[in-house]
Amino acid sequence: MKCAVILLLTSSCFTWSSAIYTPNRAASKKLKHLLEPPVYPEVAGRRGDNVTLPCILRSKPSHYKIKWTKLQPEHVGPENIIMISNAHAFKPYGHLGQRASLRKAHTMDASIQLSHLELEDGGTYRCELVNGIEDESVDITLRIEGVVFPYQSKNGRYRFTFREAKEACAEQDGILATYSQLYRAWTEGLDWCNAGWLLDGTVHYPILHPRPVCGGELLPGIRSYGPKDKNHDKFDAFCFTSQNSGSVFYIPGSFSFEQAVHACQRMGAELALVGHLYAAWRFRNYDQCDGGWLRDGSVRFPISNPRERCGGIPEAGVRSFGFPNKTTHLYGAYCYR
Ligand SMILES: *[C@@H]1O[C@H](CO)[C@@H](O)[C@H](O)[C@H]1NC(C)=O
Ligand SMILES: *[C@@H]1O[C@H](CO)[C@@H](O)[C@H](O)[C@H]1NC(C)=O
Repeated sequence: MKCAVILLLTSSCFTWSSAIYTPNRAASKKLKHLLEPPVYPEVAGRRGDNVTLPCILRSKPSHYKIKWTKLQPEHVGPENIIMISNAHAFKPYGHLGQRASLRKAHTMDASIQLSHLELEDGGTYRCELVNGIEDESVDITLRIEGVVFPYQSKNGRYRFTFREAKEACAEQDGILATYSQLYRAWTEGLDWCNAGWLLDGTVHYPILHPRPVCGGELLPGIRSYGPKDKNHDKFDAFCFTSQNSGSVFYIPGSFSFEQAVHACQRMGAELALVGHLYAAWRFRNYDQCDGGWLRDGSVRFPISNPRERCGGIPEAGVRSFGFPNKTTHLYGAYCYR
């Protein structure tokens, strides 16, 4: 009642009340100016790629601005704005703004181009038409094509707090995976019986072949521990990485860790990171039936064509020998250049 009275007197109450109903409005009202549903609900690209997130006008109000924001999963800056543009000016914001431009393929095109995609760019984006009367928006998901890999500390199982898990992924050329990345990896064959942190602070593990020691005989799926105490609880990590600009190669030998370091250096390269090896396996079908040292001191090998004499596991994957004593002279070297 009070509001209705004010509403007659001032338009600010009107603005205020319409803001409250935004979710309903988005769900129920047909958009007048923006093409909906968007041209594609999801756009995918690998790290380093350039992509276009489509946003097309059906009709133009006389005055308007286009505002692009990133909604998920993490905050990119004040109000998560990437750019605001009107007929005359284009203003970029934050680190995403530096890599953003408007496509402007035609006069009704408000699509945004993002160049040199980074792992963190995945998520939901919003294209908003702001005309001061009735703002409209459409949401588009950008999916970074990549690979999820479980990562365990060299000190053993369940040694990472949330922050340590984040750092461990970064050290292996990755970031903590999101739930949707883990879910997709599970559909693509990831079965892992150790729980790991995800980007949102929850802890999960993916099971394709249910077994008593891995959460019992439930149906296959993602087992969840829910949100955990980021400062005190300790688990492994699920990391996510994508294509990179280098290449991975193997040097055969019976090296200690130090010798493997030098073997790569002689080739103008460095020992590869775990993320490098997974990316080579995922994007180049890298297959090498020999254990080799990696920079973190672990020994692994990538298998794309599973066969009896290579670990004997029927699924493709990157196999691990854990973290052997660095003085053992048994393994080759995986280098990255
Ligand atoms: C991506 O866009 C940048 C300019 O923003 C350009 O220099 C680069 O060559 C493009 N890369 C690809 C792979 O198209
Ligand atoms: C590694 O092996 C060497 C030689 O056998 C031994 O002296 C050393 O203590 C071992 N290191 C660890 C951490 O087990």
